Amino acid sequence: MFFLLTSFTVVAIPYVIERFGLRVRFGLFALLFWLFVFQFVLIFSIDALLQNFATSMPDWLESMLTTLGGFAFVTIGITPIITLVLAAAYLLFALGQWLFDKDEKDLPTPQTHFTVAIDGPAASGKGTLARRIAEAYGFHHLDTGLTYRAVAKALMDQNMPLDDEFLAEKAARSVDLTKLDRAVLSAHAVGEAASKVAVMPAVRRALVAMQHSFAERSPGAVLDGRDIGTVVCPDAPVKLYITASPEARARRRYDEIRSNGGGANYEAILEDLTRRDARDMGRTDSPLKPAADAHLLDTTEMDIETAFLSAKTLIDQALAKNTH
Ligand code: DC
Repeated sequence: MFFLLTSFTVVAIPYVIERFGLRVRFGLFALLFWLFVFQFVLIFSIDALLQNFATSMPDWLESMLTTLGGFAFVTIGITPIITLVLAAAYLLFALGQWLFDKDEKDLPTPQTHFTVAIDGPAASGKGTLARRIAEAYGFHHLDTGLTYRAVAKALMDQNMPLDDEFLAEKAARSVDLTKLDRAVLSAHAVGEAASKVAVMPAVRRALVAMQHSFAERSPGAVLDGRDIGTVVCPDAPVKLYITASPEARARRRYDEIRSNGGGANYEAILEDLTRRDARDMGRTDSPLKPAADAHLLDTTEMDIETAFLSAKTLIDQALAKNTH
């Protein structure tokens, strides 16, 4: 009777707690219950052994079994008491949590950070779009291309080879995200060198880790690059893949250089972009490609404001979902 009652209590209390969603672990009680059952089995087997074979047993074995049986007998009473005390403590704790956290649980969980991942080939307009989004939502912005450029620039400044993975990884680990100077890093030669260092897995690993922690900044972050939606932030709630025909991209770059007073050759720019695309899309580690859940935006015939409005619709929908 005692056994039946205690075992029922031992199982029933945590079950009730769990049943009402009070987030109490059942495992500890189950373990104590089985310990209880095991002690019962142990004590009965020892008793049976002693009754049947005591006469043929050496003294030392008989006294050892008697001690073991006594020990099991004592703990058999203690186990359900421990279990009951624990169950009662859990019950009080869980009830307190349920009563006092009830109001807080009903509120939507505040969003601590929100990531917008933007990928696309060179001159697709992803950088301009990323800046526009960051400005509109008050989010942090990181042009991840600058991080690869910073590695290339560091190697170039020290006359180091661009294909030594060990040296490049060291340079990558020293990149300071607060000191990325766009004016210096946007030089054409630095971009060319960057696409060479970007094929090295050790460089990518070091930079991806930095980019990943940047993405967790509050209240949100916009990152643009080649592998943001696929590798850096695969869980980003909004992923955009910005594309445009190579001709449109080459024309944009040409106009940009001309408007800054520079000399440019459209054919050379187009050739350069095509070569860069092939390198970015063809490398084995993190090639440029849209994530399976990315929204594609073709900006060949689209101005930045139209692209921004499409992105804004997606971001607003995702933000609304994220508050539930
Ligand atoms: O976007 P950009 O031209 O500044 O990028 C420079 C190089 O860095 C480019 O060739 C590809 C590489 N890159 C990359 O591999 N992954 C990124 N997330 C960003 C840039």
